[in-house]
Amino acid sequence: MLKWANLFSIQKTHETISSPDGGVVCHISVASGGVVYHIDKNNKPVVKSSRLGFLFFGEKPLYSNLKIVRAVRKKNREIVKLLWGEDSEISNNCNELILYLSEKTPPERIFTLRFRVFNDGVAFRYEIPPQPKFQRLSVEEELTEFNFDLNSAVWKIPAYQPDRYEYNYEKNIAANLTESAHTPLTFKTPNGVYASIHEAALYDYGSMNVKLNSSSILSSDITPLSDNSKAHINLPFNTPWRVIMLADSAIELTTNRMIYALNPPPTQDFSWVKTLKFLGIWWAMYVGEWTWAPGENHGATTAHAKDYIDAALSLGISGLLIEGWNDGWEGDWLENGINNKFTVSTSDFDLPRVASYAKSRNIELVGHHETVGFIDNYEKQLESAYNYYASNGINYIKTGYAGSKMLIHGCREYHHSQLGVNHYQKTVELAAKKHICLDIHEPIKGTGIERTWPNLLTREGARGQEYEGGALSPSHVCFLPYTRLLAGGMDYTSGIFDLDHPTKKIHTTITRQLAYFVVIYSGMQMVADRPHLYEAKFAPLFKFIKNVPTNFAKTLPLAGEIGEYYIVARQDRDSSDWYIGGVTNEDSRHANLYLNFLSDGEYLAEIYADATDANYQTNKFAHKIFEQKVTKDSIIKIFMAPGGGFAIRLRKL
Ligand code: NOJ
Repeated sequence: MLKWANLFSIQKTHETISSPDGGVVCHISVASGGVVYHIDKNNKPVVKSSRLGFLFFGEKPLYSNLKIVRAVRKKNREIVKLLWGEDSEISNNCNELILYLSEKTPPERIFTLRFRVFNDGVAFRYEIPPQPKFQRLSVEEELTEFNFDLNSAVWKIPAYQPDRYEYNYEKNIAANLTESAHTPLTFKTPNGVYASIHEAALYDYGSMNVKLNSSSILSSDITPLSDNSKAHINLPFNTPWRVIMLADSAIELTTNRMIYALNPPPTQDFSWVKTLKFLGIWWAMYVGEWTWAPGENHGATTAHAKDYIDAALSLGISGLLIEGWNDGWEGDWLENGINNKFTVSTSDFDLPRVASYAKSRNIELVGHHETVGFIDNYEKQLESAYNYYASNGINYIKTGYAGSKMLIHGCREYHHSQLGVNHYQKTVELAAKKHICLDIHEPIKGTGIERTWPNLLTREGARGQEYEGGALSPSHVCFLPYTRLLAGGMDYTSGIFDLDHPTKKIHTTITRQLAYFVVIYSGMQMVADRPHLYEAKFAPLFKFIKNVPTNFAKTLPLAGEIGEYYIVARQDRDSSDWYIGGVTNEDSRHANLYLNFLSDGEYLAEIYADATDANYQTNKFAHKIFEQKVTKDSIIKIFMAPGGGFAIRLRKL
């Protein structure tokens, strides 16, 4: 009897798990060489046999000679409410398989593979419990493979580059991924499936990049620390979720919300968190009118701050960012950032006075910490710097990490390394404690942790508008919804109206600047130009920016193709109004907008569109604003000029 039982359990070497609708199937097999998985969608192979496991420094590899000890299955059927964002609720609807694995021979180490299969993708993670003589590990390599067809198209930005995530997206084929690329890394397979590899819940571990391994299979490449290990972990340890988002079309991919479903809910009260639109003492520095550093043209003076607060009040914008207010922005700021002081103002800036003026006008100040990646310097001041803002009633901070690597514990480390990840997390948690919301520039990529930490309202983490003036083409923003924005919202610094400033020429039409407020979601949305641009002749255009919300109930992508165009409708969280935004690349386009998502009754459509002769190079300002009564049976015919875009507010009558 016992023999039979043993034989029976040894024979169980394969498990299958399907999505709730049965369309996505993940197969896991444990063979002598190791544990592998593969994924099919609608009976089409998407990820072929891919191995899983680890190499550790000073330990035997952990991937072969394994057996399945136990398999447990669960069904997760949950509606998740989000405090703010693109949707007020998302579904966590997946089937789960927990595979308990053990080595067959000593040291008989054990670990768990947890798979979750959604209708729109697969996620899995490694969970390693503590065990005798196996408690603190240095990861040499995570061996996770993503065996996509090498003829798949891929849209990528490179990893390990000095400007972090700030590169132009490039279309290539998977066979050419010999150098690491950041995730979300988006694919179209030869059999027509759209996919994006990413990760969720990245904590205390190096960020995952993807490249071909020595067997020419796409594989995880965890960002190393300066000592060459990928991470030092204490057991028990769960890796981040390895996520493969799946869709039948590019546009369907853009609403994949798996990363939020995979992160846990908050464990504390975040009802104090509010999304925000804000002006900034900022673009004047980019166009060379003011400076970050003190001097004749210093931007962050008490007088300028008061003027901008007044402007915010009269424009109906609730916040104001002030950069360059603190001591340390001297000379070569990238070199000298090690001297930045975060509790000391320049002599021409009186922070308590500015803060109390802002309070009297009901304007939220957005404080600013440019760390220049000098983490040792910043962490020494972290508690006092956050206390300083909190005690002055400042509830929002934009942080910045310019520079190609961080200085942490005296070593140069990648922003996306384990130590980088841990630093960002420290700021998020401290900010939560002080009831401060964050907008992180030069961040670690989004992995959905804002579900757990909703005070992390936004990040940059891709080329934003500051790269205009030559480095951005109109296709850039047409890549983002299918790539970077799968990782969460982005502070793109939208709303530049001074498109032909001699020092910074912007390659968009003017109505495209309005479209950005709908197309690129951000929990903190910057209204980036100088306030006088929003008055007088541009006031009719500004009306859209004033009204567009920063918190939506529902997002419905309407049409698009990667790098070509994107059109999305979003419903306001606080009213029954809808907003539609669209952007195109260098090509002009006509679109028919079917409004069948509206509820019954009439709406007034306020339409801000490119004129037929508008062009992002030669005729940027040509636009028309008009109104039209519509119902759910209406179709709005819209035109987008080369490098253009449109914005529509649909107001319930
Ligand atoms: C780069 C950031 O992206 C930008 O927003 C900021 O103004 C500068 N660093 C200076 O901190």
